[in-house]
Amino acid sequence: MSVASEDFKRALSAWATGVTIVTSRSGDRIHGMTVSAFNEVSLDPPLVLVCADKSSNTHALIAESGVFAVNVLSRDQEALSNRFASKKDEDRRFEGLETDTAATGAPLLRGTVAAIDCRVVAAHDSGDHVIYVGSVEAVFSTDRAPLLYCRGAYGGMGAD
Ligand SMILES: Cc1cc2nc3c(=O)[nH]c(=O)nc-3n(C[C@H](O)[C@H](O)[C@H](O)COP(=O)(O)O)c2cc1C
Repeated sequence: MSVASEDFKRALSAWATGVTIVTSRSGDRIHGMTVSAFNEVSLDPPLVLVCADKSSNTHALIAESGVFAVNVLSRDQEALSNRFASKKDEDRRFEGLETDTAATGAPLLRGTVAAIDCRVVAAHDSGDHVIYVGSVEAVFSTDRAPLLYCRGAYGGMGAD
């Protein structure tokens, strides 16, 4: 039985998530995009996953570098989420932003709730996406309130 694309998207959009920006670096090239398809995989050893569209520039950079960092956005970073999702000025997403560099070399954004620095240990070809499983090399977290996303709209949770 085939599933209508619109029905599938509508059902998926009802799943409330946090919002991350997944970044990577290869040599002196950095890039990143907004990603909600992020999840924990294993506590011991520490593993996480992100799903990247095969047509995205970020997928190409992760495939090349074998590293990525998950920047978990805070409630006041909705504009950053939109910036890193937009194809307009996609090569200028980091312009004006202060970043730090993770151990893997991936850029870390400031003002986030948490950051998870990863080295790719598996890449599963899955339809129009690739599931990247990352071995966690370093973590950073704060008590900031996270940004949430559901049915195409942003929300927040907790006090800042
Ligand atoms: C809230 C939100 C969540 C998103 N989640 C994902 C995701 O999990 N995986 C993905 O490949 N794209 C996701 N996208 C779309 C990408 O951010 C978007 O296609 C981006 O322009 C890709 O950039 P790039 O091709 O320069 O890497 C999401 C967009 C938004 C607004």
